[in-house]
Amino acid sequence: MIIEVNNVSKEFVSPKKYPGLKGAIKGLFSNEKVRKMAVEDISFSIEEGEIVGYIGSNGAGKSTTIKMMTGILTPTSGQCLIRGIDPSKERKKNAQNIGVVFGQRTQLWWDLPLSESFSILKEIYNVSDEDYESQMKFLNEVLELEEFWTRPVRNLSLGQRMRADLGAALLHNPKVLYLDEPTIGLDLVVKDNIRKAIREINEKYKTTVILTTHDIEDIEELCNRIIIIDDGKKIYDGSLENLKEKYGVTRKVTMEVKNLKEARQVDLSSALHVSKEAYEVTTDKATNSVEVAFDKHCLSISDVIAQYMKHTEVKDIQIQETELSEIVKEIYRHGMEQETKQNEEGMVS
Ligand SMILES: Nc1ncnc2c1ncn2[C@@H]1O[C@H](COP(=O)(O)OP(=O)(O)O)[C@@H](O)[C@H]1O
Ligand SMILES: [Mg+2]
Repeated sequence: MIIEVNNVSKEFVSPKKYPGLKGAIKGLFSNEKVRKMAVEDISFSIEEGEIVGYIGSNGAGKSTTIKMMTGILTPTSGQCLIRGIDPSKERKKNAQNIGVVFGQRTQLWWDLPLSESFSILKEIYNVSDEDYESQMKFLNEVLELEEFWTRPVRNLSLGQRMRADLGAALLHNPKVLYLDEPTIGLDLVVKDNIRKAIREINEKYKTTVILTTHDIEDIEELCNRIIIIDDGKKIYDGSLENLKEKYGVTRKVTMEVKNLKEARQVDLSSALHVSKEAYEVTTDKATNSVEVAFDKHCLSISDVIAQYMKHTEVKDIQIQETELSEIVKEIYRHGMEQETKQNEEGMVS
């Protein structure tokens, strides 16, 4: 295992803030503290070469976890081991093994031309001339840095800056790459480039990637495994397929019908001998359509459609699998509820 996170928690303790100027003064003399468990008893391990999506809603504790894995923050309890190194104890040694990109802010020197930022990083990471040359050749191929190589970072567009940051994080060819919201605010073309670059680096060097993102497409295109955290706790760890299978059993079929009244006479439960729990029917007068959402383990699309055709003329049919984004939203909503369920089913290791 290249990464081991063992029962890691992080509690932030900050002085209680009071509003206004009076409050600020009051705050100076008060000892009241606010405690926040940002990460609570999280464990997982990751194998070399995996691309893992670390996802959860805002404030779930994603960045805090990444910061503990990189050594920026020290866990309140528990331990991270990255290639056997505890980053909070041996931050420098760990730095040689990792690359980090925080989407929200650059790691590069704002006023320097990109080329100079890279020269400095080359020195910091002790990259030999030979390695530098070959790595830059590769990075230029996948990230096209030459386009703005001599420009100061402050003058780069967000997309260029992100490519530059990713390149900088990879200059010393780290074994582990942490990406915290790497595609935030980027347009589709750049997003695509960034994803492609991540994939190529992973394939070429077997780089292990941990990625936090709000973009479901990042996950679908990059990750074979996802870890979901909610309010500091891990609520899912497994494959995408598994997640879809577990939560994505719902299918939706939308039928435009000639006569809504006739369509309303369909009773799937008695006609097909299934429980009323297994499906949900909604009708829309404006579009003259019937939408049936159903558990695909209980009903088949053809049976559903056939029933409607028996009662009325069906003019148009649309079939929809539940989108991953909906599944994930659902999980965010029911975070804790799902956790207990998963534990019973032994899904969370
Ligand atoms: N330095 C800090 N001091 C106090 N609270 C913090 C600090 N950093 C993060 N938090 C709190 O910890 C929780 C998790 O934050 P974070 O890890 O940034 O979430 P995410 O990256 O998933 O959006 C939030 O409630 C946040 O307000
Ligand atoms: Mg964050």
